[in-house]
Amino acid sequence: MAKAAFLASGNGSNFQAICEAMENTSHQPVVLIYDRKNAKVPERARELEVASRYVPYAGRSREKAEETILEILDFFNPDLIVLAGFMRILTEKVISRYEGRIINIHPSLLPAYPGTRGIEESYLSDDKELGITIHLVDEGLDSGTILKQVSFRREGTETLSEIEERIHTLEHTWYPRVVLELLDQIETEATGR
Ligand code: GAR
Repeated sequence: MAKAAFLASGNGSNFQAICEAMENTSHQPVVLIYDRKNAKVPERARELEVASRYVPYAGRSREKAEETILEILDFFNPDLIVLAGFMRILTEKVISRYEGRIINIHPSLLPAYPGTRGIEESYLSDDKELGITIHLVDEGLDSGTILKQVSFRREGTETLSEIEERIHTLEHTWYPRVVLELLDQIETEATGR
């Protein structure tokens, strides 16, 4: 059994897709940490019976907020930390504590269009190939070693919402697969099989 913790800021559809994919495995989603009070993601956690903790950033430094995040993570002791729409950059302190064990998904073919508007910026570009990126997290903005990219060729006649839907479908297919593969790998290493 390997344990995953999640950090999210908003809707939580990737969080849900991964938790559902974990249901028939030996792996466990141990905690969801979220930073926006009105996020939908804690509702999903409740339905999935995953513990959740709200960690506000407003009115205090990023370092202070991260101290709380680290306390929670250290308590739950996850093998992997999965960012699922977490719209904050983590500092060196968190990254180094969980070196090589934090992953993120981004809705563009990085290094193109990092940040919070990956889909719109990809859509508005002249790029013919659009897609998603799953990568290890470092202290940069949507940077870090790329683990997986999946792309598709667009017709050019699609609306923004059609492209959004296509990208989200890709995310919900590939993010659970990559997370489960990593958790399997961690479990195998731990049991020496
Ligand atoms: C996803 O599209 C994810 O790729 C993106 O936020 C969305 C979260 O959706 N992440 C980033 O843009 C990271 N820079 P969700 O809350 O429904 O999973």
